[in-house]
Amino acid sequence: MTKITAFMGSPRLGGNSAILLDALLSGAEENGASVTRINLAAINITHCIECGECDTTGKCVLQDDMTEIYDQLAESDCVVVASPIFFYNITSRTQALVERSQACWTGKYFLKRGPLGGKRRRGIFLSLGATRGKMLFDGVLRVIRYFFDAVDADFEGALLYRGIESKGAIKEHPTALDEARTVGRLLAENGDLGSVNFLHRIK
Ligand SMILES: Cc1cc2nc3c(=O)[nH]c(=O)nc-3n(C[C@H](O)[C@H](O)[C@H](O)COP(=O)(O)O)c2cc1C
Repeated sequence: MTKITAFMGSPRLGGNSAILLDALLSGAEENGASVTRINLAAINITHCIECGECDTTGKCVLQDDMTEIYDQLAESDCVVVASPIFFYNITSRTQALVERSQACWTGKYFLKRGPLGGKRRRGIFLSLGATRGKMLFDGVLRVIRYFFDAVDADFEGALLYRGIESKGAIKEHPTALDEARTVGRLLAENGDLGSVNFLHRIK
């Protein structure tokens, strides 16, 4: 059974990222995946304090909800991150998760540990923003690429939607929810996302 860990990075409950992520996770659960949902706005993960301890231990000294998330990530076959664009960035809650993956990064690159949990996993990113600029997602795609690298996830692609602003606006999008559901189903089936033409590929 495919184990999916999903991070919801928007502070707006029932908002666009939540709706999009739910569509993906419904598609996954309906096809047999086991899903763990983590609402980053509802838990306590502080930012990295750059103490340097993980450089030699591969472990974070901070004791908060991230402690459990390291284990959760290690067990998972897929990691899905959903964040709206805030000031051309991921939300600060999502950024805290990303910063705290530094303990995985040091484990991998300084301590030369094998892949987290002894296996590689699949990584999918969901994002949306109110405006329509060509470069709207350029910065966040790079951030998520490095996050996925730290947690040994292959960044298979992203679902990105422009012009989505008011709460629930994503429901009016002609294809978004179906696309998310399809990705969820394929993750559950361990299917190939290579032919999915709506997925944004990472160069
Ligand atoms: C603090 C803040 C900053 C934002 N910055 C941007 C931005 O830089 N570019 C953009 O296109 N939309 C921006 N938005 C709009 C949100 O991305 C948009 O409303 C989105 O649909 C919110 O998704 P959610 O319902 O999942 O929270 C911003 C919204 C907020 C509240």
